[in-house]
Amino acid sequence: MATAEQIMSLIRSHTRDDREHFYTVALQIASCEARKGHKTFADDIRKAFKSDTPTAKSKQVTIPDDMKDVLALCAPDAFRNQLVLGDVNKKRVERIMHEYVQQEVLRQHGLSNRRKILLAGPPGTGKTMTAGVLANTLRLPMVAVRLDMILSRYMGESSAKLHQVFEYIANNRALYLFDEFDTLGGERGGNDIGEMRRVLNTLLLCIEQDKSESLLVAATNKPNMLDRAIFRRFDDCIEYTMPDKDGISQIIRNSLSTFLTEDIAVDSVARSYEKMSCADVVSACHDAVKIALLEGKKQVTQLILEQSFAERSAAIKLQE
Ligand SMILES: Nc1ncnc2c1ncn2[C@@H]1O[C@H](COP(=O)(O)OP(=O)(O)OP(=O)(O)O)[C@@H](O)[C@H]1O
Ligand SMILES: [Mg+2]
Repeated sequence: MATAEQIMSLIRSHTRDDREHFYTVALQIASCEARKGHKTFADDIRKAFKSDTPTAKSKQVTIPDDMKDVLALCAPDAFRNQLVLGDVNKKRVERIMHEYVQQEVLRQHGLSNRRKILLAGPPGTGKTMTAGVLANTLRLPMVAVRLDMILSRYMGESSAKLHQVFEYIANNRALYLFDEFDTLGGERGGNDIGEMRRVLNTLLLCIEQDKSESLLVAATNKPNMLDRAIFRRFDDCIEYTMPDKDGISQIIRNSLSTFLTEDIAVDSVARSYEKMSCADVVSACHDAVKIALLEGKKQVTQLILEQSFAERSAAIKLQE
């Protein structure tokens, strides 16, 4: 069952009319229940919310059959208060949202809101999550654009397919995520395949000419592979970095949620694992919660947390 703290949190967010926080706590309760093996109850909580999530309230989009292999509707469950960013990036993400909400004011003065955004940085630092947070907060459907499919399945017709995608974007307001953007964005000069070069030029043109109301978010963890000409096409390029000690502490607190006790020295664990990505920190915390649960504990102990981080860190070193 939900803890007293979670119930109080639900009530507080209701009285503050903070829908986003209300969803977050409810989904946290569902996750806790699922971890305790109460899958049906967890599913019931999630189902109860499905018809009332912020994205469900927005105008949905339908992907036509002939585009289903290149466009995929996503259901992000990321919320603003779970996303941990440094102050600078936090402000930049907030600014995108603010300008989107105030786009009419800007338009009256001949200006447009930041709509074409490039997110670049190492794996597991929150680029895809940021796209989900933007979509959920702005109540936009989120659609993933499969550049890899456009290139592989439509060899010889990739440029035509890209034009079709951008026509769809112009007619269907949503957040479009171009993940692994480097797939197409490789240095033009270094590419001797004519088709790749043509497709890249088409992509640059399509991005430049896009005047839709949609948000275009491109993400890459290989920014060095991108053609310099690409950066100019974006209204904002945000660089993601590995989290610092405070960021790691924050993610640990969020991820352990009700499994955290005051005895745990979160900052000291964070200090020892400063090189970890946000995604690895979340995974280490989830490992710790699983161990605690299977040992019949209601809370994670310092030892369990440290063991989980040590194991995760050893696994990362193996991959290097
Ligand atoms: N900044 C962050 N704050 C909180 N959690 C994060 C953050 N970054 C990553 N995570 C956690 O890690 C998971 C994976 O992150 P995400 O997919 O956004 O990484 P990414 O930067 O897109 O990585 P990749 O380059 O591999 O696509 C998220 O769902 C979330 O649980
Ligand atoms: Mg990603």
